[in-house]
Amino acid sequence: MISTGDLKKGISLELDGQLFTIVDWQHIKIVHHVDFDSTNMFKRVKWTDHSMEYSFRGRMTEANDEEVDYNVGIFGTSMFHIHGTRNGQWFAILTAFGLPAPGVTQNYFSIGVPKGDGSPDSNAMIAFLHQALFQMGKKMVAEDRPILHTLKYTPGTMTKSDQALARYLDLVRGFPRSHHSSDFIH
Ligand SMILES: [Fe+2]
Repeated sequence: MISTGDLKKGISLELDGQLFTIVDWQHIKIVHHVDFDSTNMFKRVKWTDHSMEYSFRGRMTEANDEEVDYNVGIFGTSMFHIHGTRNGQWFAILTAFGLPAPGVTQNYFSIGVPKGDGSPDSNAMIAFLHQALFQMGKKMVAEDRPILHTLKYTPGTMTKSDQALARYLDLVRGFPRSHHSSDFIH
């Protein structure tokens, strides 16, 4: 079972934010083992002045080729959502990113699955799905962690394949910042 302690505490990363990695399609394939058609991804992104969303279908190459059909999005600089199906099972995860201190990001997960019929079997299935999705979220963070903790971002070294990342960074630069530690966030 997921303990309230797990959910309250979240997962800590020693860096300021990590949302930009979601725009890196290649790492979804290589690091998270999701094979999908990434051609024309940039054109498929729906942008606003504070968000970006896109959809993709694929299969989990290290999990029995389970089929996924996902819609993902970033809102502002502190919220990521994913909803859709994995192996036909619908779910939604909202991840909020707190910045409790300079150089520290805290990930909090909210997980949703369809309401059951209240029977013991249904409740057991919901508990199982919550646990499996929570572990999936933790696994993805664990896969990203060594990269996030060692990458060095240098403005001006983008390539053509970084088109979406560049646009997202423009969005971030223009987004109002009000965090009390903003003077110390790099
Ligand atoms: Fe990632």
